[in-house]
Order: sequence, then structure tokens, then C-alpha cells
Amino acid sequence: MNPYREVEEYVSSLAGVPVRGEIPPEGKGDYAFPLGFRLARVLRRSPAEISREIAERIEHPLVERAVPEGGYVNIFFDREEFVKRLWEEAVSPGFGRGEEGRRYVIDYSSPNIAKPMHVGHLRSTIVGESLKRILTYLGNEVVGLNYLGDIGTQFGALIVAYRRWVDEKALEEDPIKELLRIYVKFHEEVEKDPSLEEEARRELEKLEAGDPENVSLWERFKELSLKGFERIYRRLGVSFDVVTGESEFVEGARRISQELLEKGIAKVWEEGEKKGAIVADLEKEGLNHPVLLKSDGTTIYLSRDLASLLWRVKEFEPDALLYVVAIEQSLHFRQLFTIARKLGINKELVHVSFGMVHVEGMRLSTRRGQVIFLEDILDTAVERVAAEMKGRGTYSPEDAEKIGVSSVVFWMLKTELNKDVRFRWEDVTSFTGESGPYVQYAYVRARNILEKKSGPFELLPPDDAEWRLIKLIARFPIVLRESARRYSPHVLARYLLDLATRFHNFYDHNRVLGDPREGFRLWLVTAVKNVLETGQELLAMRPPSRM
Ligand code: ARG
Repeated sequence: MNPYREVEEYVSSLAGVPVRGEIPPEGKGDYAFPLGFRLARVLRRSPAEISREIAERIEHPLVERAVPEGGYVNIFFDREEFVKRLWEEAVSPGFGRGEEGRRYVIDYSSPNIAKPMHVGHLRSTIVGESLKRILTYLGNEVVGLNYLGDIGTQFGALIVAYRRWVDEKALEEDPIKELLRIYVKFHEEVEKDPSLEEEARRELEKLEAGDPENVSLWERFKELSLKGFERIYRRLGVSFDVVTGESEFVEGARRISQELLEKGIAKVWEEGEKKGAIVADLEKEGLNHPVLLKSDGTTIYLSRDLASLLWRVKEFEPDALLYVVAIEQSLHFRQLFTIARKLGINKELVHVSFGMVHVEGMRLSTRRGQVIFLEDILDTAVERVAAEMKGRGTYSPEDAEKIGVSSVVFWMLKTELNKDVRFRWEDVTSFTGESGPYVQYAYVRARNILEKKSGPFELLPPDDAEWRLIKLIARFPIVLRESARRYSPHVLARYLLDLATRFHNFYDHNRVLGDPREGFRLWLVTAVKNVLETGQELLAMRPPSRM
């Protein structure tokens, strides 16, 4: 068992209640329990008294000393015993794996067809992929699902634009760019000729009604777009178990809207612009009356999402459904989940929401055509990394690609989900800051040592520098669980930064090969490498071999 967990369980059993260990400030021991505070109310005695008393009773092979301080009990581990617990595990593949055994459906990426994927989708893609990997590693069954926006008002506009302005040759060469060009042109032309809007609406209705010509155009858009998206997915190493799209849920959306009406969860709107529409009645929940079905029978993002949710529940029988989508859609998801609850869905439903992404201070809008193509983002990172590597004399195209793409991935993940991500290239691709390359460089340093010599290992009581690293290594399994519990890869990303920092530090001040402690340090370096490697994989980064 993980030594932290083992001590936590022991102390909890001694206290008679579950108590969580904390990492105390430097010098105050290795692990701390707020026992006095936890028990003061029940025992009606002062926290200091309680912790003094429990500290005295603590007797465990992993505990060298237990020191009461105020309401806390600070634990100093028996270092050698601690290392024994990790000896095999920490250097084996699968360190930190779990057997959680839940089933998840994760909706991520989910871009809109015939538009370029924007940076928000990139964040969703990366966060979702990483969550999928972490949850899978912990022993859950995970279905990764790409829910394409393959229906919506843009298709009316696109069909109109296509018939008037498309350049077939350009479309073949770079479909996403050409589709964007005519889409932007449409919005420019609408300013001059508002009737285009009406025309687009008619084309959309024809499409929804199954008009063969419009359907085949739409299929073409879809196929071309997917091809474009796949280029990005391939570079990122992202894959999905299921690719579906909103268009598959149009029928379902109509049906469920009727059903909600019959059940009294929805009603027909009586006045004004929405007259005749079926709306959900979420007044009591403070979530308004969102439209489900327009009076002309057109379905809505919300009703299609609802039909899709019901399908996911039935098809995969998950314990939890996650939606990795920008925070702008939080009202949508509150409405969606509230309706689902009213229909008796009692699964865990989570909007894993995230903030905006700024690339060098720009806000982007597809309508105006100010788009950053995601491939340009990846290319920029790779070029910068390549230049740095050439300066160091370590350049290879394969490693530059891995490190460059991983730098973008890491930058997205190290930011807390609710905060905005800011891309400043000097920072993103820096080999020394809080960046992906910095983490990967620690990994490469460990690898380089082990390439020269990888054993045999010798168990010794750790010195102070080694001990600081060992304690961090032992936290890996705990960090993974914390990351999963919070649905936030950021917890793992921050941890890898800490580990990389401590390892760089260790490396700068200690010898491994040729040192009397070589046999022990080789074990330590192997464990660091193992954790950094697994950590990178779980963050959807790709470990380089040289840099
Ligand atoms: N296609 C949507 C967009 O780009 C995101 C879809 C997210 N998933 C969902 N089930 N609503 O805004």
C-alpha cells in the first residue's frame, strides 16, 4: 500500500474517525494530521491536549517520530521503511494504477463542421484526452466521444455561399480554409443584402427535411471537415471511441420534446416571438424557458443534446457523463442536466468547464474570419523548439515535433480549468520556465543517466536530498486520484512541474554515477523517470529521447 495511505489509515483507526493527512510546511515533518481540531468537539477537550495524547499512542513501523504541535500531530517517517514500501512499485510500469471500476462517457473536442476548430476546441480536445487517459489508468472504463456540430444555422449560410462563391479547386486543396472563406463572405454580404439570411433559413429547412441536393452538399462539408480535424488529432495523438454528431439526434429531439410536453415538463409558448414553440419549464429552477422545438418544427442545440444524452445513457450505461466544454455554455448545461433529472436520469452529470484561451492577446471570431488555425499554433511551437535544439546541437525532427506539440498540450493543462490560458510563445516553449519542455528536459536527463548505467540497485537509508525526491515520488498515486476526483489534469501537470524542479535541483547538486550511493541513486533516477514518463503519457504529451 502507498505509505502515505498506510499511515493515514493507521492514524484514522487510532482516532476512530477518518482523518486526512496534509503536507506540512518545511521542517515540520513529513506528514501532518489536524487531529486535535478534528476531535475537539466530540471529546470536549482542547485540540492541543488531544493531539498530545494521540501523538504518544502512535506506534507504527513507518513512523519514526510523532510530534504534537497545537491541534496538529506532525509525523516524521522512518525513511528506510518508507522506501521499502516503494521499492518495487515505483520503478515498475503501472505505478499508481487503480481499480476504480466506474464507467464514464466523456464528450470532448466536439467541433463544428465546416468551420475551423478554434482554440477553445483545442483546449477541450486536450483536457478531454488527458482525462480519458487518467480515468482509464485508474481502472475505469471510458468512452471518448466526439459530438460534432454537424447541424445548425451555419449550414443554411454555407449552402447559399457554396452555390454562389465556392472555388472548387481551392476546396480540394485546403477545404477548411475555403469553407471559411465563403462563410466569412456570406456574413459580409448579409450586411449589404439581408435577404440572404432568409434564403439561408430556407436552405436549412430543406436540409432538415431531407432535400437530396442539400443533404449531399452537407455530407461533403462534413467529410472534408473531418479530414481537416483528423490532421490535428493525429499530431496530438488524440483518438475517440465514438464519433457522432448532432444530426443524428434531430428525430430524437422532436420525440423527446413531445414527451416532455406530455409529462408537463415542457409547454407550448403562447405569445410573442416564441409563440407556438415548445419550451422547457425551468422557471422554478431559475433557468427560464429554453426553447426545445421551434414552432416550425426545427430542433435546437438543447433538445438534440438531450436526445443525445438519453442515447448515451442507454447505449453505454455509464455511471457518469462528462462534457468538456467552454464555460460560456454553462447555462446550457444546467438546463440540459435539469431536464435530464426531471426525466429520472440519476447519473453523475458534469460540465467540465474551462475558461478562454488567448493567443498573444487576440480574441477570435469565426464570423469575421480572424481565425488562428490550430496547425499554425502547433507549427509555431515546433519551429521554436527546433531552433532551441539546433542551438544545443540536439536537433532531430521527430523530437522537435514531440516537444513542440507537447509544449502546447502542457501549457493548456497546467492552467486551472476555470482560469484563462494565455499563450506567450517565449513562455510556452521555454526550456527553463514552468513549461512542457522543462518537464521533458528532466525526463531526458534521467534517461541519459540510465542509458549509461541502469543498475544494480542498492537499498540505503536516504539522505536529505534524496528524501525530498522520494516523498514526492510517493505522492504520484495520490495526485492521480486527486486529479481524477476533481476532473482536472492541472493537478497532475503542477505535480510534474514540482517533480521536474526537484529533480533538476538534485541533478545539479549530486552525482549519481561513480558516487558511493550510486546503487541507491540509480533506483531513485529510475523511479523519477518512470513517473515522468507515465505522467507525460497521462497528460497526452509525448516523451522525447533527446533535447
Ligand atoms: N459543437 C459545440 C460547440 O462548438 C460543442 C458541443 C459540446 N458537446 C455537447 N454535447 N454539447 O460549441
